[in-house]
Amino acid sequence: MLHGPNLNLLGSREPEHYGHQTLEEIDEAIRSEAARLKAEAECRQSNHEGQLIDWIQGAGRDFQGLLINLGAFTHTSVALRDALAASKLPAVEVHLSNIHAREEFRRESLTAQVVWGLISGLGARGYTLGLTALIERLRNDGKETR
Ligand code: DQA
Repeated sequence: MLHGPNLNLLGSREPEHYGHQTLEEIDEAIRSEAARLKAEAECRQSNHEGQLIDWIQGAGRDFQGLLINLGAFTHTSVALRDALAASKLPAVEVHLSNIHAREEFRRESLTAQVVWGLISGLGARGYTLGLTALIERLRNDGKETR
């Protein structure tokens, strides 16, 4: 799970858009959903584009899939889009808010074209739903998830 910029502020940041759950609570929910499905999840957050690119580039060594919420970089970063396009791992993009129901500049996701699936607007539930779908797909593909 890769969380992008400002998502470390969840809980206090614009709760009308992003809810009241903290990043720690969301990460705990992701890890326990993974454990329930007999898989393992590691959660990381960075405010830095280059760090996120490095993690995406390196993910193929240790992981089978990517769950991402790249925050505002979703709408701006050709570099993150290219990193995802180069990655061989299937990715699910998650947004807490419905990006299509907000400002014009949020309606375009540069990464949407290169991810396997996208969930937007279901709040924190989107992460566990995305994770479940990703694990199901990996199992269907015959990939080990632990
Ligand atoms: C977000 C939506 C983005 O537009 C915004 O910049 C975020 C969070 C979401 O989860 O709804 O940081 O990705």
